Amino acid sequence: MELLGAIDPQGRDEDYEATSPWWLSGTPLEAEHHRLMRRRSVPIPWDQTTADQLTDAERARLAGTWMRRSEAEYLAVSTFSVLAIDLTAARAPADVLSLCLRAGIDEIRHAEMCLRMAKIYSGKQNMPVVKMSSLPDDPKRPKLHQALANTMLVSCVSETYATTVLSATRDLTTDPTAQAVLTSIYSDEVAHARLGWSYLRHAIEVGGQGVIDAAAEMLPRALRGVANVVEKERPIGEVTPAVRTHGLMTPAEERIIYATCIREVLVPGFQALGVPVGSALEDYGDTWAHAA
Ligand SMILES: [Fe+2]
Ligand SMILES: [Fe+2]
Repeated sequence: MELLGAIDPQGRDEDYEATSPWWLSGTPLEAEHHRLMRRRSVPIPWDQTTADQLTDAERARLAGTWMRRSEAEYLAVSTFSVLAIDLTAARAPADVLSLCLRAGIDEIRHAEMCLRMAKIYSGKQNMPVVKMSSLPDDPKRPKLHQALANTMLVSCVSETYATTVLSATRDLTTDPTAQAVLTSIYSDEVAHARLGWSYLRHAIEVGGQGVIDAAAEMLPRALRGVANVVEKERPIGEVTPAVRTHGLMTPAEERIIYATCIREVLVPGFQALGVPVGSALEDYGDTWAHAA
């Protein structure tokens, strides 16, 4: 057992229980699903929620946000599925393929956790809202460029932003259940972001200037894609001080985090790899950051 522990430092969560059992098939597949989902060892203290200290309005606000998060996580399942097809077509390295497919599994787990969070606040066993990936698909371009461009959008930009916003949100969250869920999701999103930066570096080594051009062309579109999410209307209800301690920020705060992420992480990251960043700093400078 000691040896197993050394091989898999993440270990197994012996206290694992089905996260949102109402979203399972009711067949023997469930056991295999639990085996896959149990891999991560961050235990979620579901029974330590402090949701009962909130007003009805605060609970409704939180239920709305966690439900939207489950929708975003569910969408990410389809995104990594499509990305896996792009990467397979481009004959990406085996480690890139396995980590991309693993990311899709992580997203199922995230969707389950967000769904259970929504239930904690709403009391309702809702199902994930279906939204499907709409990654750009251009059959005429080289497979390497297609795979690289979509990896950049999904992983380098979107997942890197996810890590920065999750870490900031986690810092103000004191509810033990919300804290543990955000921590668990955060640690996976770091791996999802790393996948993109590593593949970008690899693709540039393999494909040279053509890859750099494809990356530069995708960058404004990728930045806009995340900006659209940041700018989106939020569920109705005030973000009270109590709501903030359950894993929620205001749209104005999220804008500042995104602008900071572009300036301090994304732009330096792309520049370090020789990818021109165009007008990214001007587009998402102070004016954009403080527009909400
Ligand atoms: Fe996720
Ligand atoms: Fe992710």
